[in-house]
Amino acid sequence: MKTVHLIAAARPNFMKIAPLYHALVRESWATPQIVHTGQHYDPNMSDAFFRDLGMPNPHIHLNVGSGSHAEQMGGVMIAYERIAIAEKPDWIVVVGDVNSTAACAMVGAKLWIPVVHLEAGLRSGDRSMPEEINRLVTDAICDVLWTPSPDADENLAAEGVPTAKIDRVGNIMLDSYELLRGKIEAAGTRRSLGLAERYGVVTLHRPSNVDDQATLAELVSGLVKVSQSVPLVFPVHPRTRKRLNEFDLMGAFDGARVTLTEPLSYIEFMNVVSGSSIVVTDSGGVQEETTYLGIPCLTLRENTERPITVTEGSNRLVAVSDLVSRAADALEGRWVKGRRPQLWDGQAADRCVAALKLRAGIV
Ligand code: UD1
Repeated sequence: MKTVHLIAAARPNFMKIAPLYHALVRESWATPQIVHTGQHYDPNMSDAFFRDLGMPNPHIHLNVGSGSHAEQMGGVMIAYERIAIAEKPDWIVVVGDVNSTAACAMVGAKLWIPVVHLEAGLRSGDRSMPEEINRLVTDAICDVLWTPSPDADENLAAEGVPTAKIDRVGNIMLDSYELLRGKIEAAGTRRSLGLAERYGVVTLHRPSNVDDQATLAELVSGLVKVSQSVPLVFPVHPRTRKRLNEFDLMGAFDGARVTLTEPLSYIEFMNVVSGSSIVVTDSGGVQEETTYLGIPCLTLRENTERPITVTEGSNRLVAVSDLVSRAADALEGRWVKGRRPQLWDGQAADRCVAALKLRAGIV
């Protein structure tokens, strides 16, 4: 039996871990164990996702919580090193690009435990983003790199990573969507939020958009203008809520057709996104989900580590100052239709399992 630690830390990780957990549980040679670092801890940022995605309670919980980057990464490293020494997993799988991803990869590499990075090779080229630092560090020290798309393979090759370390497995997050498609379609979230036939969805949490008062104020005023054309639903991330209060911007939504909610569960969120006419976001995952669903996505960033959502999909990078005019383009049909990239097919977890089996020498 091979014990495989699956490291889950923050909201976007849970949709990537779940399909792999379910696929590994079915294998007679594998004992998958979920390790939750506690980076996200609010019930609606964490527990609700475990419930929706059919995952058991984490086998191991590090309860690290919030803090500065160094506090969070240091806390995860100290706590996970103890666990890894005691439990001696055969493999560690880290996902995405959050602080816990790089921290656990570092622990595994130094203990000579083989580490796999799922969603490897993505690069924004922007080192002012903490996630970019996490991606670079993680990919440099992992033993196996599971990539979602050809651009990721090319980035790794350009950094001198040997091809033998890379398995292109596709986009695993869409496995979660396909696993839960029935429940997503049946959920009554759109109805209970009173959403009309045409509406838009907003998500914002990047420090570059929400931590600067002038930028956030301009964004809020843009959203209020867009809501004159189409009602918006805006599930508010804890970081963003904190800033909206701190900068006294909540009142700016008074009277506008913008419904602010707490963060939604996965099924609720995908029910709302899948019926929407337009999405405004700065999330990485949402750029992929909208490309998969062919929904116009306006990404409020200067760059993306997921360029295939722009070259092949329905995603476009939009400056805050252009939000209102680009939203009008999308709503009036002046938008690219896009297509689904190769291997974004709901079967990535099976490819991960096959790849791991081969590398673990299971016949
Ligand atoms: C983190 C990830 C980011 C990911 C995002 C998704 C890093 C560097 N960033 O950013 O890549 O896209 O998660 O959400 O790892 N908070 C709560 N409750 C929670 C979690 C956080 O109130 O359950 C508060 C924290 O106290 C903190 C703020 O939200 O003030 C930000 O949390 P943090 O985990 O530091 O970063 P995110 O912005 O969520």
